[in-house]
Amino acid sequence: MDVMEALLTRRSVRRFEPQPVPLETIQTLLRAAMQAPSAANAQPWHFIIITERQVLEKVTEFHPAAECLHQAQVAILVCGDERLEKRPDRWIQDCSAATQNILLAAHALGLGAVWLAIHPDPIRIDNIRCMMELPNEVHPLSIVAVGYPARVPQPVNRFKLDRIHFNHW
Ligand SMILES: Cc1cc2nc3c(=O)[nH]c(=O)nc-3n(C[C@H](O)[C@H](O)[C@H](O)COP(=O)(O)O)c2cc1C
Repeated sequence: MDVMEALLTRRSVRRFEPQPVPLETIQTLLRAAMQAPSAANAQPWHFIIITERQVLEKVTEFHPAAECLHQAQVAILVCGDERLEKRPDRWIQDCSAATQNILLAAHALGLGAVWLAIHPDPIRIDNIRCMMELPNEVHPLSIVAVGYPARVPQPVNRFKLDRIHFNHW
C-alpha cells in the first residue's frame, strides 16, 4: 500500500479479532513511530507496549471511550519525556506525529488501530501515571489500541473545498 492510499483509506478500528499481534509487528509499528518528524529533532518519545489483559481492562475503568481495549490484544502508550526536549512543550506535537505514524503503519500492515486520548484529560493522565509508574517528567499523550480488525470501516471522503484559503482568510 502506498502512502496516499494509506492516508485516504485509514479509519479507526475499534473491533478486533482475538488473534494476537506478533511482537515483531509491534516493533515495525514502533519503527514507523520513531521516524516521525520532531521539533529540533529531539525525538522525546517513549513507548510502553501493553499486553497484560488486566492492565488493558483497567484503562477502561477510567477512560470513557476505550471500550475497544476489551477486545484489543495489545496497546501502545505513547509518552513524551520533557528531559529529552530541546524546546519546551513540543512533546505534544512530536508524540502526536508518532501516534499518527503508528496508525498509518498499522493500516498499511493490514492491522486496525485507534488513537485513545490521554492528554490533556487530568483524570486519564493521573491514572496512567500511577498505573505505569511514569517519572514526573514523562507525560502520557495517547494509547493506540492495535489488533487484527474484526470490522473494517469504509473509507470516507472528508475533502472540503471551503476550508482552503488562498493567500489570506
Ligand atoms: C487526539 C485524538 C483523540 C482521540 N481519542 C479517541 C478516544 O479516546 N477514543 C476513541 O474511540 N477514538 C478516539 N479518537 C479517534 C477519533 O474518534 C477518530 O479519529 C475520528 O472519529 C475520525 O474517524 P477515523 O479515525 O475513522 O477516520 C481520537 C482521535 C484523535 C486525533
